[in-house]
Amino acid sequence: MQSQADIYTLNSGDLDEEITRLNTQHVLFDDVMNNELLPPHITAELSSNPSPKICEIATGTGIWLSAIAKTLPASAELVGLDFDTTKFPPKSQLPVNVELKFNDMYEAQPEELQEKFDVVHLRFIAMASRKGQGIALVKNLLTLVKPGGWFIWGELTENIPHVQPPIDAWSRYLQLAHKFGLQQGRDVELPQALPHYLKSAGCVDVDYKVYYAMSLLYGPKGADIIKRSQNELLMAVNILVDGILAKGGVDGLRTKAEGIDIITQTKRDLRGDVKVNTNIFRCYGRKPL
Ligand SMILES: C[S@@+](CC[C@H](N)C(=O)[O-])C[C@H]1O[C@@H](n2cnc3c(N)ncnc32)[C@H](O)[C@@H]1O
Repeated sequence: MQSQADIYTLNSGDLDEEITRLNTQHVLFDDVMNNELLPPHITAELSSNPSPKICEIATGTGIWLSAIAKTLPASAELVGLDFDTTKFPPKSQLPVNVELKFNDMYEAQPEELQEKFDVVHLRFIAMASRKGQGIALVKNLLTLVKPGGWFIWGELTENIPHVQPPIDAWSRYLQLAHKFGLQQGRDVELPQALPHYLKSAGCVDVDYKVYYAMSLLYGPKGADIIKRSQNELLMAVNILVDGILAKGGVDGLRTKAEGIDIITQTKRDLRGDVKVNTNIFRCYGRKPL
């Protein structure tokens, strides 16, 4: 088995493609989540705070922090942490109150950041999750939250979107990805175990909401949601195939040729009105006072 530090799959492909994928994904998912960067009651609570402090763990390109910076006063302090700093944009492209730094979310968190933040936000780390360590991860990250502050963790449903009508390429990919996740020692209970993790780590007022991508079909953003979701899935399959191969592969995806075949089949199957339900499960809880 790979060492736990090596578990993450999505940093092994083309860097520019991954940066583009994360930034495009943010815009799509923001629409799916009704442009609610935070659960509305948390946004309302922050609005009476003259200088809110927010930390994003596993921030990637910092795209969510850059977006939320636009909604907050200039006095807000926004810190993004990630163990891969190559995806960080240059400082000149970030809002002045956003700072991005190296940090491993599984390590003890820096002294100077302890209990500093009103909100700690984490999302889309299923590929970096470790079996049996969900509660320990929440406990570790809660050390950054002020008493009374919020911890938020969002993931795609069942790690992956559902496709309707079912297509062979996706069923084939899902089986490989599941086998590979088990082989890597990943937590395959996400996202449904999130409320349990937050409560067991000591959070109160724990709740969650699921946002359904295809609900957008019935509103003003409906016209291109099918195409946007298909494009996102295709970009994700590309980078996931590279990532799985870079980690030695799994039965059914051991060779470059098998990878190309999966990508070609996905492109072929994702036609017309095939709906990719990129649903998002967002769980939140408060650190007790
Ligand atoms: C799928 S990306 C999501 C990025 C960002 N949260 C977003 O929504 O755009 C997952 C991120 O987790 C980071 N990551 C994976 N394992 C990590 C770890 N142990 N500590 C910190 N960051 C980690 C990766 O480098 C990557 O940037």
